Amino acid sequence: MSDTAPTKRLYIKTYGCQMNVYDSERMADVLSPLGYGMTDTPEGADLVVLNTCHIREKATEKVYSELGRLREMREERLAGGGSRMTIAVAGCVAQAEGEEIMRRQPAVDLVVGPQAYHQLPELIARSHRARGERLSADFAPEAKFDALTPERRPTGVTAFLTVQEGCDKFCTFCVVPYTRGGEWSRPAADIEAEARSLAEKGVREVTLLGQNVNAYNGANEQGAGLAGLARRLAKISGLDRIRYTTSHPRDMDDALIAAHAELPELMPYLHLPVQSGSDKVLKAMNRAHTAQGYVRLIEEIRAARPDMAISGDFIVGFPGERDADFEATLQLIREVGYATAFSFKYSRRPGTPASAMPGQVAEEVKDERLARLNALLDEQARAFNRSQVGRTLPVLFERPGRHPGQLIGRSPYLQAVYATAPERLIGQIVPVRIEDAARMSLAGALAQELEPA
Ligand code: 5AD
Ligand code: SF4
Repeated sequence: MSDTAPTKRLYIKTYGCQMNVYDSERMADVLSPLGYGMTDTPEGADLVVLNTCHIREKATEKVYSELGRLREMREERLAGGGSRMTIAVAGCVAQAEGEEIMRRQPAVDLVVGPQAYHQLPELIARSHRARGERLSADFAPEAKFDALTPERRPTGVTAFLTVQEGCDKFCTFCVVPYTRGGEWSRPAADIEAEARSLAEKGVREVTLLGQNVNAYNGANEQGAGLAGLARRLAKISGLDRIRYTTSHPRDMDDALIAAHAELPELMPYLHLPVQSGSDKVLKAMNRAHTAQGYVRLIEEIRAARPDMAISGDFIVGFPGERDADFEATLQLIREVGYATAFSFKYSRRPGTPASAMPGQVAEEVKDERLARLNALLDEQARAFNRSQVGRTLPVLFERPGRHPGQLIGRSPYLQAVYATAPERLIGQIVPVRIEDAARMSLAGALAQELEPA
């Protein structure tokens, strides 16, 4: 870690998932000893990193238009006698389309895939010597984590912690198995060391990250898999809340479900994507579960932890999706009752099996289905938030709110909670009586004690 003041400015723009957020923080850490300090805008930056997402076409296109803007900014700056800005593209678009980026956008100095971030300092030095250097990433995440995590400096009382990367599931719509490689789990001892050091620096809540986090297969003396890992981390003093995302229904095993009944540190919020409620579509998606199988799984989870808030991902307009298939998705949503959810129009990704399937759905049909899906999910999210009014919930305060005297925290169910509270409560878990609910947040007042369990 460098104790000297930064001499160069680094701007990182992060697209896509939480794994990218974690990776962006690690890139900032690894560049800090080289004298790079973070800045909020690209204007004065010496180095700009776009940490990109390839999951849908829109996300990818945004990267190319941002690169166009950066190129103009760099030219103007050079014309005005300013210093040269180095432009790097990282993340899944770099991995999937590195050569195309170099061809389409000559302003890019370097392209670096998700497994090669620990080599960034060397790459930047090389690119300063000669333009056009590109490191082709292989899928060996070990070296990356070993090199990136010791420098960690958390910025708040909650932190992401990557425990697993990659995906072997090959859902037919998805690029992740191609951009992030096969499933790989970090050793439990390394994760524990990182979690311990975060807790020592004041972190009270970690969110364990993985493309298929519940496929985590490391073991420790507390047991195997994600359940064993959660048991181990729950013993760390000061670390009071553990979350994890994203899970696949196939890997939601009995041990993990049981851990939710036993470990108070495991928060009652589960992001468990189902994608569709039609068995025909699920089969074409290669999801390896049925709609009823998923609903039964949710029932088992709720038997272990009755107040579990469920979140999901949905895709509308997958090839071959008929009205009846879409109605089945609405039906599944009604049966499950979601606290929150993410919904997407199917986006054709080059190289994936679904992109070549017959029965591609017209854009207007996708739009209409997405609107109906969102109306239902919105109604459920509001109902879920309203159901908390009158309850007294333990809230972990994270930061000051927009109004003076106000703090923002999170309920166990991941809802943002606003309350009037002194700043010294940041980093503490405090009872808050919920008085009001909106679509995205709750408002409440400090209370003396929690409601009886
Ligand atoms: N089109 C639309 N949505 C997609 N997702 C993944 N691939 C695609 C695609 N080609 C969605 C899935 C996944 C989430 C991260 O993104 O719902 O769970
Ligand atoms: Fe993509 Fe499916 Fe793997 Fe999730 S489980 S990353 S949707 S292939």
